[in-house]
Amino acid sequence: MKVQGMGMLGLFVVVIFILVRAGNAQLNAFLVNCGSNSSVIVNGRKWIGDSSPGNNITLSSHGIEASSATFNGDPVYAPLYKNARLFIDRLNYTFQVPQGRYFLRLHFYPLVFEHYDANVSYFSVSANGLKLISEFNIPGEIIQKNEFLLGGNSSFSSLVKEYIFNVDTNVLVVDFIPSKGTFGLVNAIEVIPVADNLFAESVKKVGGNGANASLDFGKRGLQTVYRLNVGGGRIRPDQDKEFWRLWEVDSGYMINPDAGSEISNQSAIVYASPNDTSVAPLLVYESARTMSNSQVTEKRFNMSWKMEVDPGFDYLVRLHFCELQFNVSSQRNFRIYINNRTAADNVDLFMRAGGKNRAYHEDYFDVTSPATNNLWIQLGPDSSASAAGTDALLSGLEVFKLSRDGNLAYVQRYGNLELKKSSQTLKLWVAIGAGIASIAIAAAIVALMFWLFRKPRAKDAEGKKTSPGWRPLFLHESTANAKGSLRYQNPSALGTSITGRHFTFAEIKAATNNFDESLVIGVGGFGKVYKGELEDSTLAAIKRANPQSQQGLKEFETEIELLSKLRHRHLVAMIGFCDEANEMILVYEFMANGTLRSHLFGSDLPSLTWKQRLEVSIGAARGLHYLHTGSERGIIHRDVKTTNILLDENFVAKMADFGLSKTGPSLEHTHVSTAVKGSFGYLDPEYFRRQQLTEKSDVYSFGVVLFEVLCARAVINPTLPKDQINLAEWAMKNQRQKSLETIIDPRLRGKYSPESIKRYAEIAEKCLADEGKSRPTMGEILWHLEYVLQLQEAWLRENAEEVTITDSHPLTPLNDDESGAQVPTNLETQGDLDAQDKEGESEHVI
Ligand SMILES: *[C@@H]1O[C@H](CO)[C@@H](O)[C@H](O)[C@H]1NC(C)=O
Ligand SMILES: *[C@@H]1O[C@H](CO)[C@@H](O)[C@H](O)[C@H]1NC(C)=O
Ligand SMILES: *[C@@H]1O[C@H](CO)[C@@H](O)[C@H](O)[C@H]1NC(C)=O
Ligand SMILES: *[C@@H]1O[C@H](CO)[C@@H](O)[C@H](O)[C@H]1NC(C)=O
Ligand SMILES: *[C@@H]1O[C@H](CO)[C@@H](O)[C@H](O)[C@H]1NC(C)=O
Ligand SMILES: *[C@@H]1O[C@H](CO)[C@@H](O)[C@H](O)[C@H]1NC(C)=O
Ligand SMILES: *[C@@H]1O[C@H](CO)[C@@H](O)[C@H](O)[C@H]1NC(C)=O
Ligand SMILES: *[C@@H]1O[C@H](CO)[C@@H](O)[C@H](O)[C@H]1NC(C)=O
Ligand SMILES: *[C@@H]1O[C@H](CO)[C@@H](O)[C@H](O)[C@H]1NC(C)=O
Ligand SMILES: *[C@@H]1O[C@H](CO)[C@@H](O)[C@H](O)[C@H]1NC(C)=O
Ligand SMILES: *[C@@H]1O[C@H](CO)[C@@H](O)[C@H](O)[C@H]1NC(C)=O
Repeated sequence: MKVQGMGMLGLFVVVIFILVRAGNAQLNAFLVNCGSNSSVIVNGRKWIGDSSPGNNITLSSHGIEASSATFNGDPVYAPLYKNARLFIDRLNYTFQVPQGRYFLRLHFYPLVFEHYDANVSYFSVSANGLKLISEFNIPGEIIQKNEFLLGGNSSFSSLVKEYIFNVDTNVLVVDFIPSKGTFGLVNAIEVIPVADNLFAESVKKVGGNGANASLDFGKRGLQTVYRLNVGGGRIRPDQDKEFWRLWEVDSGYMINPDAGSEISNQSAIVYASPNDTSVAPLLVYESARTMSNSQVTEKRFNMSWKMEVDPGFDYLVRLHFCELQFNVSSQRNFRIYINNRTAADNVDLFMRAGGKNRAYHEDYFDVTSPATNNLWIQLGPDSSASAAGTDALLSGLEVFKLSRDGNLAYVQRYGNLELKKSSQTLKLWVAIGAGIASIAIAAAIVALMFWLFRKPRAKDAEGKKTSPGWRPLFLHESTANAKGSLRYQNPSALGTSITGRHFTFAEIKAATNNFDESLVIGVGGFGKVYKGELEDSTLAAIKRANPQSQQGLKEFETEIELLSKLRHRHLVAMIGFCDEANEMILVYEFMANGTLRSHLFGSDLPSLTWKQRLEVSIGAARGLHYLHTGSERGIIHRDVKTTNILLDENFVAKMADFGLSKTGPSLEHTHVSTAVKGSFGYLDPEYFRRQQLTEKSDVYSFGVVLFEVLCARAVINPTLPKDQINLAEWAMKNQRQKSLETIIDPRLRGKYSPESIKRYAEIAEKCLADEGKSRPTMGEILWHLEYVLQLQEAWLRENAEEVTITDSHPLTPLNDDESGAQVPTNLETQGDLDAQDKEGESEHVI
């Protein structure tokens, strides 16, 4: 009992001690759990939710609170990293703090949330006007960091960025700015006061012949780029109670880890100067690396660490030492090289630190040339010194980047990464995402529309021309050739339970060879899509919801009901479904030529001609026009992009993936308020800003599609220079400068009518107007695209025999086609769509 009591008392004392010790740093400190209203304990510290009341943190706007059930990082951080604050608009955090020097740490984990794909997220951060991060992509940087590690043990799944700077007002404002058309996120923020004596103002300059450089903290900020515990294990923030720093293992940064042997000694180490207690925890000094092969007295090699750094900045290199082995001087004498230049020679640790087991550090200021993106730290023998031993020793290593002209940011190129691929694999086929709760309303409206248009339907039967109204077709017609295998549920009941073919699970299994992985043609948020063969030998795209899918049974059913009623030559048709055995499976017509995107770039498929591209654009526009205008309120697709435009065996384009679709605004409203969904690169900035959805958001996305078709490149390509990353911006810039021809798909060169390109680009430009109300309707776009096609066809006829093509080809008068007389002179002209709409692309209601 007594022993236990003593134990309790001891524990109590330790707790008090920790509280007092931590108290200094914790005073005026903020530990923020972003995107949450609740606190969590991580690493023994309490992180306050950024939206919990009374937290003394001010957010300039709310952003989006994102949380994810899955987390693949260090489990310790799961409570903190499973939620984040997402921002699609500028967002800043304001902290009331006394003037002084602070650590600011930003935590980033690429969590998966709805349709926000961190792979296409780009954003910038600044703090009190100091630019910290620019065009930052979290997964890109994680991959880059892991690729750089030269055979180390660690691999990053998240990032912590640390900055140190003076706050000379009473507020610290951390400002997050998403790049245009994308979004950003932050998982946690730390603001921790720094003792002023952590850094000396004046630091020895590498290669400066003994001269010093001033850090000039009043004007400059620092970023910690590396913090390594040399020769020892990882030191967690809770083991560095002073400032909660993280010390990584160094071996991954060594050119040759075998050059250095790890040594350690936990005996009483003391700080060489009483002012140094916050420089590093003693744990850092308990382990070190010395040069291997110590049997040899004369060592002729270096221990070398290589670190990737941003070129064009100044760096502060801090080396930590502690002599653990020798109790007299002149036993160890070495040189320090930074970027191949001597930073220090004749280093005798025993002398410099004033004895054995004394923690000691030295700082060096290094100016890298704009060309170098590596920082080399090397320790080797100093043969000029007449010392007994030539061994070197290093206990810890920190590298800080200094700001230049208020900037610490460097735009990474993420050059060799596979980020481009990711957007391709996002949703290859007819994948229907989550978030379709509103489909039930849509279905109700469809039912109403169906009833309203019963009369025109009767006219159809008489072979009369239909109005451009809603022209739904239920499955009777398109699947009639499937004969007896069809089973309808009460086909006469209007709009209620007329559905597609009901497949048995056995039939689906047979069609997909028991869900053979080799038949997978697409993977999406909903699940996998298989190529299947039905028993009557027709091919089908079979989409099977995975069990974790957010999509509930009710949504699945309403989706079937809606989709089975959307019938149009330019919309992918649903053949049927299977809801047996807890399965949710949709069966679509098979689109033999896959996505439009696969025919533009990123595959070996032959490229489409300009005429084919125009026909495909027109087809997609027809599909969208039908969605927008087919019913009184219309349907907004919400995810128009080249991977959602599929091509059948005859290259007829069809819109797919109505998973995000929403019914349009009712008459008394001009928009639908909704959480932003869609794909980055295609997203309407106005919808982004105001979260108000109209058909014009589809028009914007379609404009991006038009430029993608013309330029045959990804809409977001992070490997390109900054102004080219976003296709919409880049194309608009070229269009305004009249230099669009320079960015057109080179495979089209000399094979198009210049006039057709000019007109086409004008349409695309109009679609990308900032304000929705300035954009044309799909009907207008369709009309103009038809005209562009005629220009191209006329040009092709004229150039059929010509071998050489001149750029200044005169515009051929249009032929007998009646619409030739109606060529619009500007895009404001409303085309007569019905006159154009003579293909009978819309199938008719029975
Ligand atoms: C915190 O958020 C959750 C989920 O968003 C909500 O249910 C809860 O009421 C909130 N708590 C407070 C105190 O606001
Ligand atoms: C907020 O600030 C007030 C006044 O400075 C202080 O009393 C309170 O404890 C602070 N709240 C938190 C959560 O830090
Ligand atoms: C904070 O954000 C708001 C708008 O989001 C902006 O107006 C304001 O200038 C920002 N403040 C600072 C200091 O950046
Ligand atoms: C890698 O890390 C694990 C666990 O942290 C450790 O057990 C192992 O020894 C390390 N391996 C190397 C080569 O450092
Ligand atoms: C240079 O800086 C060091 C500290 O890094 C200091 O000890 C030394 O006195 C300085 N020398 C000069 C000439 O300022
Ligand atoms: C650790 O240091 C102590 C005291 O300086 C010494 O007695 C001991 O031999 C050292 N241990 C090792 C393994 O070097
Ligand atoms: C410790 O810091 C104080 C104030 O910053 C300074 O006056 C003193 O000289 C320092 N002591 C040493 C040993 O550097
Ligand atoms: C240094 O250590 C050696 C043994 O390692 C010991 O014999 C010697 O007395 C020590 N010298 C001093 C000055 O402590
Ligand atoms: C230093 O030298 C190594 C090898 O000699 C070389 O690969 C490296 O690029 C050099 N570093 C710098 C910064 O010049
Ligand atoms: C150690 O590195 C420096 C700088 O790169 C180089 O000049 C020197 O020759 C190297 N020493 C040995 C023994 O390789
Ligand atoms: C993001 O990119 C990585 C690397 O290319 C890839 O493994 C991952 O699946 C992508 N994530 C999404 C949601 O596409």
